[in-house]
Amino acid sequence: MTLIQKIHKAVEKIKKQTSYELKIGEPKIGLVLGSGLGPIAEQVTDAITLEYTKIPYFCATQITGHAGQLILGKIRGIPVVLLKGRFHLYEGHSMETVVFPTQTLWGLGIHTLILTNAAGAVNTRFRPGDLMMIEDHLNLMGDNPLRGAHLAEMGPRFPDLSEAYSKTCLEFFRSAAQKLNLSLQQGVYAGLLGPTYETPAEVRMLRTLGADAVGMSTVPETLVANQLGIQVAGISCITNLAAGVSSHPLNHQDVIEVSKIASHRMIQIITHTLPQLASHRKESI
Ligand code: HPA
Repeated sequence: MTLIQKIHKAVEKIKKQTSYELKIGEPKIGLVLGSGLGPIAEQVTDAITLEYTKIPYFCATQITGHAGQLILGKIRGIPVVLLKGRFHLYEGHSMETVVFPTQTLWGLGIHTLILTNAAGAVNTRFRPGDLMMIEDHLNLMGDNPLRGAHLAEMGPRFPDLSEAYSKTCLEFFRSAAQKLNLSLQQGVYAGLLGPTYETPAEVRMLRTLGADAVGMSTVPETLVANQLGIQVAGISCITNLAAGVSSHPLNHQDVIEVSKIASHRMIQIITHTLPQLASHRKESI
């Protein structure tokens, strides 16, 4: 079965299980919720929730803080689709599995993807609890989801990444944060394979390379979305100072707790920006 056929099958199942077209309209915005950022899902009205296990080719997530549900509904009256929980390379999943949910959102018709994640601060001016809009990334995962056979229906063989994260969306976020009187950092996200946190030497290396934050996700989804012509916006929740910056050991529980607290500010910024995001799309490639 080809990838297009698999996406089609997943989309058909979602449509059948939710009759979403009748109830809420086709979603134009997709949102991926990172570790501890699940509370954003509470903003959704007319929500229809589908467990990942019910969707063909989706796997069950295994990580605490990642629920594994697709949620269709509305935020501020705008039809959205949320992925609560994502698949990570460090879980042993293949790149195909990691990016399949993003490709399924494309199949559902989204033109904009908002990616959220938890990340460690490489930039010494950042503090735990800060939010950082992603202006660009470093792919240090050692793999690329677009490696392999090229399907022309999915976009170009060599996608341009000169604006992998939409500058217009960055502007929307910046002005929303200003209006809401919330501080919002901006920087470069380095995506690493994990699952270990970094060594202090690696964090120094990342700083030299121009990274401001480090995490273990987001990059694959961004690459695939860019190929598909979807505009991408990303926000990292800085949950901790990266190794060596912080004097105490890192652990996943702290990551979840800090992101839960920061999620409320992230919700405010995203919900404020949604109407603008809904009416803006990437120029066709
Ligand atoms: N490193 C990598 N991934 C992370 C971190 C970190 O310090 N914090 C949250 N996710």
